[in-house]
Order: sequence, then structure tokens, then C-alpha cells
Amino acid sequence: MNYQNLLVNIEDQIAVITITREKALNALNTQTMLELRHFFGEAGLQMEGLKGVILTGAGEKAFVAGADITEFNELDAAQGSAFARRGQQIFALIEQFPRPVVAAVNGFALGGGCELAMACHLRVAGEKAKFGQPEVNLGIIPGYGGTQRLVQYIGKGKALELLMTADMIDAAEAVRLGLANYAVPAGEEVGKAKELIEKIATKAPLAIARVIESVNAYFSAEEDGFAAEISAFGACCETADFREGAAAFVEKRKANFLGK
Ligand code: COA
Repeated sequence: MNYQNLLVNIEDQIAVITITREKALNALNTQTMLELRHFFGEAGLQMEGLKGVILTGAGEKAFVAGADITEFNELDAAQGSAFARRGQQIFALIEQFPRPVVAAVNGFALGGGCELAMACHLRVAGEKAKFGQPEVNLGIIPGYGGTQRLVQYIGKGKALELLMTADMIDAAEAVRLGLANYAVPAGEEVGKAKELIEKIATKAPLAIARVIESVNAYFSAEEDGFAAEISAFGACCETADFREGAAAFVEKRKANFLGK
């Protein structure tokens, strides 16, 4: 697939994906959503040796200013539900991606943009970052998981406040609330995200994938998280990397993980 709205650069086995609709503040239109689905559901999964993915927005103003309002302002109930369902399915691919996905939030992360950042495993917020769910200003609510993930990250009380007031919060407040992992000076978002991915890349890749799976199981209605952890732990025990990690510990040397 040739991407029109995503620029994918592979740098030191890290995929740095920039959403390139700067004129529309990187708003997520259908084409961009399909491209995200293609990367996280197909292309990215096939990239051998991929250490992780960074998502960011083109320009200095926005990470993503929401779903593209011009595309959904005339939907009826059934079409609106289908629109939200498709978005949730695509963001679930990001959340379930087996390598770390880090949002480098360089500006506005509003509506679908905040939801996209929340579907990533980690968030690095630059000085210009502004997070918010302003959908009630438009007469709608978040549809890409915002009412669920915001509660997961910051708790019900504060989530309800942000969802009902449509207030935006800055990077420092996002870190304080647990929405962002780090606040960094403007322009350093991708660098910090790379640093996090490089650190994770020194660990056993299959164990990282199992961590992601098990943590996601906590929030899944269909799964028992503790049971998921038990089977993931068991699966790790059979890997060559566990033998290597344990041997390296005993032999007081650095482990050489192969992802097997
Ligand atoms: N969908 C479609 N287009 C969008 C957009 C969105 N979510 N967010 C911004 N844009 C477009 C604007 O329409 C404008 O296009 P134009 O130049 O053709 O008029 C361009 O991006 C720049 O935005 P603008 O509003 O002029 O910038 P600003 O600095 O005055 O304001 C924001 C920035 C982010 C506060 C403002 O754009 C905004 O409120 N956007 C919508 C946020 C939102 O409600 N998101 C949730 C959607 S569910």
C-alpha cells in the first residue's frame, strides 16, 4: 500500500510514522485511518527486527486535532456507530501491536488525536502538547475509545471532568495525571520516544509482547487478566530467550536475546 497521509521512516529499526495532513492539523480522515490499519494490522507486523513504532504529527502545531470533522458531520445513527466501530477496531490494532508503540505528542492531541495517543503504549508530550476530548462542543462524544481509555489512565472523576468540560490539559498536567509518561521540551518528543524504545529493545522481545498482551487482558471484557498472565508466563518459560536470560544472569553477563 502506498501511503498518502503517513510518512514511514525506518531509523535504527524503529518505525517513525508521521501523519502528514498538516493543513488540517493532521485530522484523521478515512484514508489516514485505513493507512494506520494497514501498518498496524499488516505491514508493521511483517517487519523483521522492528524495535518499536513512534507516531507523531507533521508540523509544530498538532499531533492530531481529531477525527476529520468534515467527514462525519452528516452521519445517521447506524453510520455513526459503524464509524466509531471501525475506529475502535483500528486503534485496538495499535494497542495490541506486539512491539512498543510510543506517541510523540508534539502539539494538539484532541478528540481522535487524544484517543490515538491513548491507544499507544506510551506517551511522550512536548511543551506544545495539549490533550483534550472536546467532542461535546460538537454535540457528540468520543467514539474511538476515549470514554474508556481516559478513565483507565486518569480515573473516573478527572476523566468525567475533561469529557464534560472539553478542557485541554498541557504536558505537565498530563504527566501529573498519568496520561503522559514524560514531558519534554518542544522538538525532543521523538528523541525521547526513541530512547524508551531502545531501552525496551534490550529486553526479550517475546516477553515484551506478552507484557502488552497481559496488561491489555486486564481491560478486556472477554478475558480474565490473571488467567491470561498465567498462560503468558507459561509461554515465556518455553522460549530460548528465557534460557538465555537466566543463563546470562547466572554467568553474570549481558543477555543476547534473539526473540525466540
Ligand atoms: N477536522 C477537520 N479539520 C480540522 C480539524 C478536524 N478535527 N481540526 C482542525 N482542522 C482544520 C481547520 O478546519 C482549519 O482548516 P482551514 O485552514 O481549511 O480552515 C485548519 O485545520 C487549521 O485549524 P484552525 O482551527 O484554523 O486552527 P486554530 O489554531 O485556530 O485552532 C484547534 C486549533 C485545534 C483549537 C481547532 O482547529 C479545533 O478546535 N479543531 C477541532 C478539534 C476537535 O473538536 N476535535 C475533535 C473532533 S471529534
